[in-house]
Amino acid sequence: MEQKSLIKVAALCGSLRKHSYNRGLLRSAVELSQTAMEGVEIEYIDISPLPMLNTDLEVEGTYPPEVEAFRKKILEADSILFASPEYNYSVTAPLKNAIDWASRPPNVWADKAAAIVSAAYDLGGGRAQDHLRQIGVYIDLHFINKPEFFLNAYDSPPKFDRDGNLTDEAVKEQLKEVLLALQTFTLRLKGK
Ligand SMILES: Cc1cc2nc3c(=O)[nH]c(=O)nc-3n(C[C@H](O)[C@H](O)[C@H](O)COP(=O)(O)O)c2cc1C
Repeated sequence: MEQKSLIKVAALCGSLRKHSYNRGLLRSAVELSQTAMEGVEIEYIDISPLPMLNTDLEVEGTYPPEVEAFRKKILEADSILFASPEYNYSVTAPLKNAIDWASRPPNVWADKAAAIVSAAYDLGGGRAQDHLRQIGVYIDLHFINKPEFFLNAYDSPPKFDRDGNLTDEAVKEQLKEVLLALQTFTLRLKGK
């Protein structure tokens, strides 16, 4: 069987909370990529060191060191996996801040494939996902449409342990399907 080219995925979490369920989804995605898939390398990128966007911090086309480091990680990735909570029907401020920094010229999101997963209350973050997809239009990200992944993190039985680790096997399987779709679409976009 022909081996697939390796893809590098940058994983971003919209929550800065220590026991974040969304970061738990990303830890699970990393584990799945290492144990149940081939050809996908996922790196978690911490957005918490980024300063609040202020274009006064840009000096002759250069950015603060934390921003430069973040932009480089995005540039080097083949695709992006977002885990986005929903705050007031939208994406969180830290995630929007990270998105905006990497959109400054040259826009390093351009032409990459992306997928969204979310854990939130009742609808599992569907409204935040819609907003993220809309932002993606302007910054030239190409989201997979399906499978969709929305998780009500507060439903019983619990899906996470007290540290925010995903424990539900059926949900892990859904997450794996998202990763497989992202892998296929990333390779297609890159013509591989
Ligand atoms: C400011 C704020 C606004 C929120 N608004 C929503 C909302 O509109 N819809 C929703 O489903 N959950 C909402 N939540 C709940 C979070 O999505 C939920 O706590 C989620 O678990 C946060 O993600 P995390 O576990 O990764 O930190 C809100 C939480 C905060 C702090």
